[in-house]
Amino acid sequence: MSEIREFLPDDLFAGKTVLVTGGGSGINLGVAKSFAAVGAGVAICGRTAERLESARVELEGLGARVSTAVADVREYDALAAAFDKCRDELGPIHTLVCGAAGNFLAPAEKLSANGFKTVVDIDLNGSFNAARAAFEQLRETRGNLIFISAGQAFVPHFAQAHCGAAKAGIDNLMQNLALEWGRFGIRSNSIAPGPIEGTEGMKRLGPRDGGAHAALKQAIPLGRYGTVAEIGQTAVFLASPLAAYVTGTRVVVDGGMSLPGSGVFTQLVMSAMAADSPGHP
Ligand code: HXC
Ligand code: NAP
Repeated sequence: MSEIREFLPDDLFAGKTVLVTGGGSGINLGVAKSFAAVGAGVAICGRTAERLESARVELEGLGARVSTAVADVREYDALAAAFDKCRDELGPIHTLVCGAAGNFLAPAEKLSANGFKTVVDIDLNGSFNAARAAFEQLRETRGNLIFISAGQAFVPHFAQAHCGAAKAGIDNLMQNLALEWGRFGIRSNSIAPGPIEGTEGMKRLGPRDGGAHAALKQAIPLGRYGTVAEIGQTAVFLASPLAAYVTGTRVVVDGGMSLPGSGVFTQLVMSAMAADSPGHP
């Protein structure tokens, strides 16, 4: 996280509290670390206590005050309790990052109704739960909402109907909250990351072998995967005074991957599935 300190003062978020749902790992932990590097107190929640404790060590290593809480974003009361704990330990939330999500590859004709519902419950309903539970604190701080979306929200991807529906819903929610809560001084934006290296999402959705990785990278205008730090930097920008007049916007941070569509991704996923079960699809 040293990069961000080259460009922004390390006390930019001093005295401010940032809460990240799903902040114990991956992109969301990267976002939490970027805020920690510029002085924020950081709260993270998720379902796994050990994961949160290990993230706490990393965040404290950056000098942050840290609050953790085990909470499933599908359970409103658990989230509300986590946000109260955060307030008691760090002060009212200035920036809420809704990052908790679940995903897997499943062609729609094989996806169960509960599989679809589960992803929508975690990603979309969980994001509303978090935003609603944080509202009073955000009103007090005239703070920010940042939702973690994905390219699936606006480009159809093979075997991603559940994720696409959930993330499109998130971006719509983001704009409605920008419209409604602007009058309280609350800004609302989303970030749509492209393929981010070393993450659980890429492990689940990304290519399996070197040749396929090369093919996917070749289809990205900037020719590479992104990093968690690049998503963190975007989140800090959006929550900072540099973006004081930015609300209701989806910021796509994908090296241009979505520009040519999802054809290469679709070909790679279909080939991998055909190799698993010859004759299909
Ligand atoms: C088809 C599946 C499935 C799979 C689960 N289900 N995994 N269906 N293919 N691989 C179905 C189950 O069969 C079940 O339906 C329903 O989903 C719920 O499953 P549970 O295991 O009970 O759910 P739960 O314990 O709540 O776990 C949620 C989860 C899990 C999403 C299924 O994978 C999880 O906790 N994921 C969190 C981490 C994660 O996914 N990280 C990556 C985020 S990446 P039935 O009908 O059998 O009851 C991302 C975008 C990446 O979001 C973008 C691009 C690179
Ligand atoms: P990840 O490490 O698996 O992050 C997901 C986090 O959410 C985990 O820490 C998980 O922790 C938590 N979580 C899952 N279900 C939860 C629930 N019901 N309640 C509370 N927390 C829950 O995956 P990632 O790849 O870094 O993805 C992070 C975010 O970026 C997601 O929103 C994803 O959609 C988005 N994204 C990722 C990519 C990519 O390239 N990886 C691309 C585009 C968008 P627990 O399991 O311990 O709860």
